[in-house]
Amino acid sequence: KRLTSKGMWQLEDVKKTLPKRQLFDHKGNHGRGLIIGGCKEMPGALSMSVQAALKSGAGLIMGASSLPVIQMIAGNCVEATYSALSATDGYLDNHSEINLDSYDAIAIGMGLGRKECTKDLVKYVIEKATCPIIIDGDGLYHLSQLLPQINERTHPSVITPHPGEMAMLLGVSVRELLKQPFQYAKEFATAYRVYVVLKGRYTIVTSPEGVQMVNPTGNPGLAKGGSGDVLTGIALAMVMQKQSLLQALSNACYIHGMSADLLVQHQHSEHDLLATDVINGITDVYRTIS
Ligand code: APR
Ligand code: MG
Repeated sequence: KRLTSKGMWQLEDVKKTLPKRQLFDHKGNHGRGLIIGGCKEMPGALSMSVQAALKSGAGLIMGASSLPVIQMIAGNCVEATYSALSATDGYLDNHSEINLDSYDAIAIGMGLGRKECTKDLVKYVIEKATCPIIIDGDGLYHLSQLLPQINERTHPSVITPHPGEMAMLLGVSVRELLKQPFQYAKEFATAYRVYVVLKGRYTIVTSPEGVQMVNPTGNPGLAKGGSGDVLTGIALAMVMQKQSLLQALSNACYIHGMSADLLVQHQHSEHDLLATDVINGITDVYRTIS
């Protein structure tokens, strides 16, 4: 399909490329996704990613974390299924027990914590997953030590850093990164063959070939803990549904920002907008788009 965009992802592009729901669809047509994250201090990160993925149209979502985290969050999203993983002192550790084979996409890292044992889990997913993976949050912290492994992958990899995380991965200051964000994002994406979603007021999506797309939606109401976890959930839902990844990721950023924009116009202010409001706001985005 011909897209209207020349670098800037527009509403018309979203309308043309968003996964459609057909009359005889079943949940399998909309993908199976696995989301691994959460620790004793950050159970909500996993909760928000799971809810955002289902609200965005994912067919089936499995949330994987320690049993206490699951017990805490399962009531927030009863439509998901959950897998209890072993943990040491509240941080995920054992990885051999996770079956990665039956998913269309996997997201890892939100609220995972930075303990060494959680790094092994990230390494396991990078090495073993035979579907697209999305690495976010603390997963990106570990990624700085797993760059050889990411280079070896034969299936797509996506990273969703904010400027601090991107600068850390590149080994430059945030100030330096923000002087040339397009160039730095492209440098990393092409060097490691990953899709880079460099988040900010204007999020830049870069493909491993160096093609770049800018997202125009969003507002400072999103400058709050949890917004990133919601974006990762939306992105997983899009990626699971077997779209072109550049389109899937651009759509995710657009929907995330548009939800916040509609909420600030009609119900909320930039002050009181919460990440969970942005999840509920996806309803209005879809009603506007379709
Ligand atoms: N305008 C538009 N969009 C914005 C703005 C803005 N002014 N500010 C933030 N956003 C969007 C970003 O584009 C991104 O999609 O909100 C999201 C924020 O994502 P993150 O920075 O990853 O936030 P989150 O992970 O929820 O919370 C911060 O990251 O720094 C770490 O560990 C720290 O737990 C903390 C977490
Ligand atoms: Mg984040």
